[in-house]
Amino acid sequence: MKKIALSGIKPTGELHIGNYLGMIKPALELAEKYQALYFIADYHALTTVRDREKLNHLVYEITAGLLALGLDTDKIIFFRQADIPEIFELAWILSCFTPKGLLNRAHAYKAAVDANSAAGKKPDAEINAGLFNYPVLMAADILLYGSQVVPVGQDQKQHVEIARDIAIALNNNYGKILTPPHPLIQDATMIVPGIDGRKMSKNYKNTIALFADAKTRRKQVMRIVTDSKKPEESKNPDECNVFTIYRYFATPDEIETKRDLYGSGGLAYSDIKQELFDLLEEQFGKSRNAYLDLVQDHGRLDAILSQGAEKARAIAVPIMNQLRHRIGIKT
Ligand code: TRP
Repeated sequence: MKKIALSGIKPTGELHIGNYLGMIKPALELAEKYQALYFIADYHALTTVRDREKLNHLVYEITAGLLALGLDTDKIIFFRQADIPEIFELAWILSCFTPKGLLNRAHAYKAAVDANSAAGKKPDAEINAGLFNYPVLMAADILLYGSQVVPVGQDQKQHVEIARDIAIALNNNYGKILTPPHPLIQDATMIVPGIDGRKMSKNYKNTIALFADAKTRRKQVMRIVTDSKKPEESKNPDECNVFTIYRYFATPDEIETKRDLYGSGGLAYSDIKQELFDLLEEQFGKSRNAYLDLVQDHGRLDAILSQGAEKARAIAVPIMNQLRHRIGIKT
């Protein structure tokens, strides 16, 4: 039997090529080796997204996006967190085994406290308990299905370690019930620059959208910041944002040719931008059409997600039954 790999995707913004390269593509590849469970972490998004229409839309957007990019629901168990009621029951049980101090030390909460202190506010000002308990809900996500590995970015590593600590604390009391998970950290060198050269992130408004129409995408690509060297001047490709993104999509031969051209002079930024745009259109043009069809078909998306939830619950329910029995909640 394949090991279980589980990951949650928090729906917080329009998908961009940084999400694709850093998260979606590796997740789809990983599903060849593991039994993958991927879910939309809609309740996690609630700590920050407080607009009904927006949250709703974000969930459908990311669901349609992943399907359009080739997520195969015959192989991957793909579902929505909110379709799994056991999550909340498990989160409560786990919270009873979570030292409060462990949550005090969690990065997201600590960062919010530090920001308050720096601004001269009370430490907990405007911090909701959802943010504080976030790692417990995430531990429930992970432990409910006996997940062995959790592919995440570096920023989520601590959360997986917290889940591991909680599982071990509970097991120490009752014997081995929960599976302590291991984080599987995605390649840290995979930092995709945004059009302003900082890390691509919706927070910086510097993204190249995955499913934008050709005109918008073209504009975004043309706005990638470069220096002002003339075509005939020699340039260092490794210092060029356009080349850094181009490299992720071009063939090894194309990359080599371009590298030489940068060095020898004769490369105009507008030309390489055009080529990058063409490569992106070639790669994502088809998925954009599939995406646009899917994203408005809420009925179809709900049906796909609830089929996934049934499969996920088939794994979760026996684990919960055993857990309740072992802790003395039901016999
Ligand atoms: N916290 C993760 C993020 O912000 C999303 C997430 C929720 C998650 N539950 C999870 C990731 C369980 C991995 C496993 O990206």
